[in-house]
Amino acid sequence: MPTITPLAETTGASLGAVVTDVKLGSMTEGEWKAIEDAFHAHAALVCPGQHLSDEEQVAFGERFGEIEMLRGDGKKFAMISNKAADGHVLTAEEKRFQTLRGNEGWHTDSSYMPLAAKASCLAALVVPKTAGETALADMRDAYDKLDDAMKAKIENLSAYHSLYASQAKAGFVFKTGEGYGFHTQGMPLRPLVKVHPVTGRKSLFIGRHAWRVPGMDDADAQKLLDELLDFAVQPSRTYAHQWQPGDVMIWDNRCVLHRACPYDYSEPRVMRHVRVAGDPASELAETAPDERADGFEPVAAQ
Ligand SMILES: [Fe+2]
Repeated sequence: MPTITPLAETTGASLGAVVTDVKLGSMTEGEWKAIEDAFHAHAALVCPGQHLSDEEQVAFGERFGEIEMLRGDGKKFAMISNKAADGHVLTAEEKRFQTLRGNEGWHTDSSYMPLAAKASCLAALVVPKTAGETALADMRDAYDKLDDAMKAKIENLSAYHSLYASQAKAGFVFKTGEGYGFHTQGMPLRPLVKVHPVTGRKSLFIGRHAWRVPGMDDADAQKLLDELLDFAVQPSRTYAHQWQPGDVMIWDNRCVLHRACPYDYSEPRVMRHVRVAGDPASELAETAPDERADGFEPVAAQ
């Protein structure tokens, strides 16, 4: 059976566990149950030395749920790389580079889509000599540690999430169709306090894609969101994974923020990404027109 070692015992972080003594590509049902339970208990799993194939990583993701399709060719994984197909290192002007840089801000995947993601799984293929970590932050602990006045203030507040808005804030203007997430389905409205659909635990649901709060002017909303984020990502509830090739990490987007850490961009960094779609019962949100998008066509399911 897998050995599950909470990061609390080694780094002191309030989330995450290291998983050893299991092959994620060929688990028994009993091993899978232990992994799933650990995922819900710790919100993130670090699995060193797995060296999964494309198919094995997709199959691992599918144990958690349906895969969110990030690309148009039917493949259920996406490569996150600072090199283009022809081998050149992406330049600052290229949209893909700007997307990578944007991901250095704390966020949760697909909160800007009508259906937010359940989980994200990264596997390291090529890593820089130093830095380039993926950092995680525990939004369960962040919510728990808010003072009562702040808990009361945000209890009934929600925020609109937009990738157009977060990229613009980072200095990168995108148009509709210039990459995954730049869509016309509108910006979803999501509560700042999220109740986890499995554990029932409350967490802060914020991050760089959150930008407008109904009932507040945009500057005040940004100030509140910045204040919450600063509090939420204090070191006691964060963990930065220094990658080795073959490592796999999966986290629960419903209660974890993450970000890519900078590195020497002249060195290659290649990660394989599988994103697990949220359950519509808990992750599908109503949307409103996004002023930066080229149109508004809300999805029929709403
Ligand atoms: Fe991400």
